[in-house]
Amino acid sequence: MSSDIVIGLQWGDEGKGKIVDLLAQKADYVVRYHGGNNAGHTVVLGDKKFFFRLIPSGIFHKKACAIIANGVVLDPEVLISEMDILEKEGVNLKRKLIISPRCHLILPYHKELDIAYENARGRKKLGTTKRGIGPAYSDKVSYNGIRIYDLLDWQHFTEIFTFQAKIKNKILKTFGVKPINIKDALVRLKRYRTRILPYIQDTFPLLNKAITDKKQILFEGAHGIMLDLDWSPYPFATGSNTIIGGVNTGSGFPLKSIGGVIGVIKAFTSRVGEGPLPTELNGRLADAIRERGGEYGTTTGRPRRIGWLDLEAVKFACTINNVSEIVITKLDILSGLIDLKVCTGYRLNGKNISYSQCGYNELANVSSVYKVFSGWKEDISNIRSFAKLPKECKVYLKFIEKFLDVKIKFVSVGAERNANVKV
Ligand code: GDP
Ligand code: IMO
Ligand code: MG
Repeated sequence: MSSDIVIGLQWGDEGKGKIVDLLAQKADYVVRYHGGNNAGHTVVLGDKKFFFRLIPSGIFHKKACAIIANGVVLDPEVLISEMDILEKEGVNLKRKLIISPRCHLILPYHKELDIAYENARGRKKLGTTKRGIGPAYSDKVSYNGIRIYDLLDWQHFTEIFTFQAKIKNKILKTFGVKPINIKDALVRLKRYRTRILPYIQDTFPLLNKAITDKKQILFEGAHGIMLDLDWSPYPFATGSNTIIGGVNTGSGFPLKSIGGVIGVIKAFTSRVGEGPLPTELNGRLADAIRERGGEYGTTTGRPRRIGWLDLEAVKFACTINNVSEIVITKLDILSGLIDLKVCTGYRLNGKNISYSQCGYNELANVSSVYKVFSGWKEDISNIRSFAKLPKECKVYLKFIEKFLDVKIKFVSVGAERNANVKV
């Protein structure tokens, strides 16, 4: 099939950036269709590391054209800083980057509101990335959003931005926060507009024609299924639908045209931000895995919380997305553990309970049922074939594959593009 989607099956940071870059080698189009610069996708090429927040991770491939489709909330300042980095690397963005005019903008007051809400929540904060994601999506839903489309006519943009900013400033004042300077913001936004306008083009006909022409399209999911706006233990969510339905709403691409759904699973669990995490580890073991794995937020630098692999949650993610293949990442990070655990189910009040039956209170109180595996000592980061992996490693992988009833496409054992084990 010529249209595949890569999605993270946990709480984000599964290694999607690496996998998208790897799979995009033959892609004609790489597409972001939801979320914003709360995402941080890492691509490692030799001794260089790139962090993609908005621009799809496959853009380095010669043929690949990067599309930011309508479901993305776009902070123009962040987009331009990413464009600058890529241009410095010699990537000619002309005809390689296309942005839908239907994208909603993240504007300065969205970021201030995100911060103000988080500060007001105090100890009950959600742990958002403070990038304005929730406020931008809530403006979209309440018909108060401003789209790139509105930027085309500067006079019109100035009017609606000023109207919205004045209202938001009143809200900011009730939080005791300094209002935004509307005049200064408009000066900056006008500059961003000039830079962005050449890349604006309707992406719907492009993707439709790509289907007819049998082009290769790779959709790049952001965040993770456990952060989905509807299927997370709300409110510990992100502002968009991370399940594959987001492809249809976020790009207009018909779901029946999607070929493979490739689910990325980190060999353990990590999460940034607050909210229930049933397999969470604390203490020295968590610290050791965090340090070995470099588990610090790509976007915010926050230390990621660490846990055992939660197959109860991942199984739900496979089912709701009809995942056709999985990629397991960061297996190399588990080398050296005496034993490792995998969660195979939840119990609450003496009964089994599934992920989908859990609201916030349930998920925060379940106890995990674990299967224990023997660990392996060897460094596996230079191994490239399944046969050469330590026996314990194979047992671990085969159990995951059988439990989820989904084939492993390959296993990632390092951050670089080619550090993979064929299964
Ligand atoms: P994403 O948001 O899903 O794209 O993931 P992030 O980029 O936020 O976090 C994944 C981190 O793990 C990045 O630093 C990657 O370079 C790194 N990484 C990805 N796959 C592997 C792997 O198999 N082994 C190791 N050691 N690092 C990996
Ligand atoms: P990638 O694409 C990890 C989390 C935040 C917070 C919650 C809500 O790199 O995997 P938001 O700013 O979205 O309103 O915050 O969602 N979150 C992520 N965590 N990786 C991400 O993206 C995330 N995107 C959002 O930490 O808990
Ligand atoms: Mg990330």
